[in-house]
Amino acid sequence: MHRFHRKGGKLYAEGVNLDSLADRLGTPLYVYSAGTILDHYRRLRGAMRAVDPLICYSVKANSNLAVLSLLARAGSGFDVVSGGELERVRKAGGKIAKCVFAGVGKTDEEIEAGLRYGVKAFHVESEEELERIALVAGRKKGRRAPVSLRVNPDVEAGGHAKITTGTYANKFGIPYELVAAAYRRYAGDRRLKLVGIQMHIGSQITRSAPFRAAVRKMIPLVERLRDRHGLEYFDLGGGVGIVYEDALASGRDGWWKSPKAERAMTLAEYATSIIPMLRALKMEILLEPGRFLVGNAGVLVAEVLYRKQTGKKHFTVIDAGMNDLVRPAMYEAYHQIESVEKPRPGAISTDIVGPVCESGDVFGHDRALSPLERGDRVAIFSAGAYGFSMASSYNTRPRPAEVLVSGTKAKVIRKRETVADLWRGEKKS
Ligand SMILES: Cc1ncc(COP(=O)(O)O)c(C=O)c1O
Repeated sequence: MHRFHRKGGKLYAEGVNLDSLADRLGTPLYVYSAGTILDHYRRLRGAMRAVDPLICYSVKANSNLAVLSLLARAGSGFDVVSGGELERVRKAGGKIAKCVFAGVGKTDEEIEAGLRYGVKAFHVESEEELERIALVAGRKKGRRAPVSLRVNPDVEAGGHAKITTGTYANKFGIPYELVAAAYRRYAGDRRLKLVGIQMHIGSQITRSAPFRAAVRKMIPLVERLRDRHGLEYFDLGGGVGIVYEDALASGRDGWWKSPKAERAMTLAEYATSIIPMLRALKMEILLEPGRFLVGNAGVLVAEVLYRKQTGKKHFTVIDAGMNDLVRPAMYEAYHQIESVEKPRPGAISTDIVGPVCESGDVFGHDRALSPLERGDRVAIFSAGAYGFSMASSYNTRPRPAEVLVSGTKAKVIRKRETVADLWRGEKKS
């Protein structure tokens, strides 16, 4: 259950009124609900308890230190894809022994850092990378690098082309047919320790069938490699989708019959479709959820600047842009948009657009909204994942502040950037 709701018509994050928060801290403003993040973490663990998974939160979804430390305290591990994310986990107090290090292009420096800090494993995406990790580990005498190969199972997961990862048209992982030979080749290598096997088929997957198909395809391979090389864990990756439509109206964070979309899977459906196969393996199970934990735990609050009518369309210009939340422009993603104050009676049809000089800077086309005026605030829902972490300063726009709400407390967990922050390190010619 997410904790954004209306009280007396006004929008709240847990016990905090969003309009008052915006008065105090300005807009655009990212607001996250700590209760929602923890609730999602516990629900996923609960649904999968039969296999007692280690959850390695995928840091790329939202890498703020406060979000990481919240999850670290709850017992979460982490999935990182860069030396920078690894440093963030350390800074946040996360356990590096519960940290897996993925990514198709690790540098020597990143491999050295992973070894030095003692990651649970490197998730390896090519044979050349495996050789490189062996080489770097070989330089550190006596340090064997724990490695797991990322298998590309060549399964269609559906969803947007830019977030599909598990087919041979994607750059990720090692093709299913080549994996066993790669393990065999490095089995006796004293610089490496073969510890597990991993897959990740894509993101925002709302049906259980692709997960079931991928796990079913993987099981014989995993069993064989477990028996041959003593692999300890099977990591299923992330990808569990959330419902973006009517996130507020339903009061739920996913898995109900959406009026517009096909029915999304329930967490129980996800779990029951794969648990019997996983239990039989008798291996440690890892999951790498990103979006599921934080997506519906965040909103982006923005203020209305102008309205205009072109003769063809009505536009509402807000002070948040595609630089702050790129998902609609990049993935044609849908985000629910709602008035923060009590909605006025009536409805308009409007395109909600940002100030960035790009035609793609649109948060929603032809949205039916209560009439909005200059100074009104809107909340863009489901912005907790791949929101701030993908934000840029394009158009020299400082990135928004971020706030974490817990009950009636609101804590600024990242200050709003200033323009001077943006040219730090630059020199006039
Ligand atoms: C290897 C890996 N694990 C986990 C994730 C997290 O995915 P999601 O946020 O869909 O759960 C990703 C996302 O791209 C990924 O590439």
